[in-house]
Amino acid sequence: MKIRIGVRRDGKPFELDVREYLINSGLAIIGKRGVGKSYLVGLIAERLSEIGQQFVLVDIMGQYYTLKQKYPVIVVSMGKEEYADFKVTVDMAEDIAKVILESGQSVVLDLSYATMLDQYRFMASFFKAFYDTAREVRRPVVLIIDEIHRITPERSMIKLREVAEYQNKVAYWVAEIARTGRKHGIGYVVAGQREAETAKTSLTQCEIQINFKVTGVDFENLRRKIPQEIANEVKNFKAGEAVVLGFDEEFVIKVDKRKTPHGGETPVFTPVEVDISSFLKLVEKIEKSAEESERGRDLPRRVKELESSIVDMKKRLAELEERNKQLEEENKRLRSEIKARDERIKKLEDDLATASELGRKLERIKEVSTAVVDAITEFAEEVGIELYPSDIAELIRRVRELEQKVEMYEATERERKYLVDQALSDVAVKQTIREMESYIRELLGVRGALPDIFRQVVRFDPDTVFFVKDVDTTVTESTVRSYLRKLEGIGIIAEASLHGKRGFRNTFYAWVNTKLRKVKATIPDEAVDKVYDQLREMIIG
Ligand SMILES: Nc1ncnc2c1ncn2[C@@H]1O[C@H](COP(=O)(O)OP(=O)(O)O)[C@@H](O)[C@H]1O
Ligand SMILES: [Mg+2]
Repeated sequence: MKIRIGVRRDGKPFELDVREYLINSGLAIIGKRGVGKSYLVGLIAERLSEIGQQFVLVDIMGQYYTLKQKYPVIVVSMGKEEYADFKVTVDMAEDIAKVILESGQSVVLDLSYATMLDQYRFMASFFKAFYDTAREVRRPVVLIIDEIHRITPERSMIKLREVAEYQNKVAYWVAEIARTGRKHGIGYVVAGQREAETAKTSLTQCEIQINFKVTGVDFENLRRKIPQEIANEVKNFKAGEAVVLGFDEEFVIKVDKRKTPHGGETPVFTPVEVDISSFLKLVEKIEKSAEESERGRDLPRRVKELESSIVDMKKRLAELEERNKQLEEENKRLRSEIKARDERIKKLEDDLATASELGRKLERIKEVSTAVVDAITEFAEEVGIELYPSDIAELIRRVRELEQKVEMYEATERERKYLVDQALSDVAVKQTIREMESYIRELLGVRGALPDIFRQVVRFDPDTVFFVKDVDTTVTESTVRSYLRKLEGIGIIAEASLHGKRGFRNTFYAWVNTKLRKVKATIPDEAVDKVYDQLREMIIG
């Protein structure tokens, strides 16, 4: 059976055969944010409902319960009251997958109200059970996953060990479904933002791709796969326009209008009546049989499992305690190291101050002493007496001593320079500088008056308060104010008041300083100054 998705440029309808393209080929919907991916996902769900094709739509953003306005879709949700027909918890994931497939009902699985950990825990069990059960049930079902780049990222950004563990499981089962699901009648439709950031298998298994507007790396990748004249259009695609890949020829389509409201932009509505009694009966049946099997034959196994998991937990606890101790010690060591370095820098600074003071004195004494020596010699010659050699010797000694001090001063200065250079070649510091540079470049590159305002505020004296009126621009005061708020949010300026009037102060130096000290607490002030000068130069040119 076919569903209509949109219309081609030549006016012909663009249709997809469910068996051939959703199940046998797999469909990937790709594009940047706000280009119409989710809209299309919703549209596909509508069309599938109309032909009575069962689907399961995994929805981590809470965008699809609105399908209920027109279609008999069951919303299974974690914690969301409003439109949920059935509420689930993590430990029900496996059962609910079975119930869904056995009931044949189309379902929106709304996980938007669950924590990230629970989302992944749920999906890990759900996808596994979904795959296993679909093999037994053998009735075609289309699995639709929106936000696939978040569900199966190419590289996880998540540091939490536990989340990462479940995320891996999810990635494994999604890949399994993408690769071999077709054999068991599982249709596969995924939508995601960045091709470059989505796990390869999630997308490459799809032979049909609907590509909405993309930019950057994704555009470069796409450009190689499509004719030049279509590539030229892609960057200017409006929401709902896309290029289709995977047929003999690539072509551009415009996605049809949906019949139910899209996403969060939803007014209150009366949902279509849907009979969930058989669904509930199945849930009951499965829960009961699970209970029985657990009580019966599974009991000794469960006990063993629990025992071993307690042992594991104890081991893990001991490991954690050990690690914690190590970290504490490491922390202590680092602290004392930093303190020692701080003291050393402080001492260098003091020495430097003394040395430069002595240097100045030496210059004066040199002047004075030559004059004195001249005068004494002259006088001695005139009156014909011999000089006291000890006086001269004393003078020479003082000069030597001061010369040594100057040498020391120079050595200290060298060491100081060395410390500055060393700080600036520190990997973390360099990385931070690069980050600040690219951030600044980004700010300077945005449209509108922001770059100009940014340049101006960085020029203001950090010690004086300035007001919106002090910014010289052609845009309105309220626009200036909103840009200043943005810069304030970043930390480049701060709110300040003068005679009770609220204004701002330039805190760009503090912004730079804080960022550098965060990665290297002992960085010498001079190094910070250098970076600051360099960045300021970059901004004001
Ligand atoms: N085919 C379309 N026709 C009309 N409006 C659309 C279409 N596709 C998307 N839109 C509008 O564009 C906005 C973003 O679409 P959405 O599908 O949510 O983007 P995303 O690609 O981020 O999932 C929505 O407000 C939606 O109403
Ligand atoms: Mg979306």
